[in-house]
Amino acid sequence: MQAAIFGFGTIGSGVAEVLTKNREQIARAIPGGIDVKYILDIRDFPDSPFADLIVHDIDIILSDPEIKVICETMGGKEPANTFTRRALEKGISVCTSNKELVEAYGPSLLAEAAAHNCSYLFEASVGGGIPLISTLLHSFSQEKIMSVTGILNGTTNYILTKMQQEGSSYEDALKEAQALGYAERDPKADVEGHDAGRKISILSSLVCRKTVRFDDICVEGISGISAEDFCLAGQKGYTIKLIGRTSFPEEEGAAPEVITAPFLIPKGHPLYDVNDVFNGILITGNMVDRVMLYGRGAGKCPTASAVVSDMILAAENAGKNLPVEWDPEVLSPAAPGDSCYAFYVRTAQDSEQAFRKAFEGCIADQWDGAFLTEKMREDDFKSRLETAGEVAGWIRVLPEA
Ligand code: HSE
Repeated sequence: MQAAIFGFGTIGSGVAEVLTKNREQIARAIPGGIDVKYILDIRDFPDSPFADLIVHDIDIILSDPEIKVICETMGGKEPANTFTRRALEKGISVCTSNKELVEAYGPSLLAEAAAHNCSYLFEASVGGGIPLISTLLHSFSQEKIMSVTGILNGTTNYILTKMQQEGSSYEDALKEAQALGYAERDPKADVEGHDAGRKISILSSLVCRKTVRFDDICVEGISGISAEDFCLAGQKGYTIKLIGRTSFPEEEGAAPEVITAPFLIPKGHPLYDVNDVFNGILITGNMVDRVMLYGRGAGKCPTASAVVSDMILAAENAGKNLPVEWDPEVLSPAAPGDSCYAFYVRTAQDSEQAFRKAFEGCIADQWDGAFLTEKMREDDFKSRLETAGEVAGWIRVLPEA
């Protein structure tokens, strides 16, 4: 079985490594294993053991009838979108880790694959090496999914873990994450919640089987979280995590609530101890109850392992389409103001009275320097905050299920 790699960056080179090192394991499913015949990149890699496989012209790959599967690890929308479509039009299956492309064009790329008897697979686009998408689509195809709640971004989890465990400021923890190569020089996509937001939008779409767009969901990042928040929350047994969450109200046909934002999580919750760059995803189904997946949501070999798993599946099913039910019809999530949470509010000494008055009758727990509200509609919470007329740090508390 001959394959090609589009994009020889971290994940693409990881795919070449997994295919080589685990040839014996792969050969159990695909006799002889999967050989990389070409690597498409604009750069040359003279020092790489795969240097001879580099090509700069996609037509060399697409005109070779031996190529049955391609891994797209270029990232970004273009030219990944055009190249993926051209491969699918030729009946060549494409397996990707590119969440941006999957989120933006998932349904139309799936339709393209179905029209040409090949497959478009994207296990590695969410949760890196964690078999999350196959769990949702296959292991839980019989389940009514009630909620998916996950720590879906390793970089921000690293930063928040440093703040929790070492009392670091946000700025220092971010610098450390950058020095270790977790956070980009421009960290916006991670710290502003865009990366986790894209991932929860893909997961929501797969659960709903319709399109939940990233642009339609509530996305908040972690840059406003302070060392003081961790100190106050920690004294009461809470930590703070960036959570991507989609949940389905009981009423039949009600819109899903979809959000990416920092949440307070109590000690004892399964996501409380998901630390450093690890991801953790808690799925609640109506029959199976709660299932937790945990592992490396980023990084060269874990993510490449998930891409290769898809490549094996595509190769085993060469000439056939592996369908994924994901309708292009847009499903609008519930308005964020209608969601109900308990909220943590940090108060300064001179503003405490104003907050007490604004939240009279709905303070569940008064701390020194902060309080927790009863569960209330987010719109109600925000209008009470406004009434207080003071600036305060606030964070939602993660609901039970
Ligand atoms: N920047 C992402 C993270 C990479 O930190 O999780 C994986 O999508």
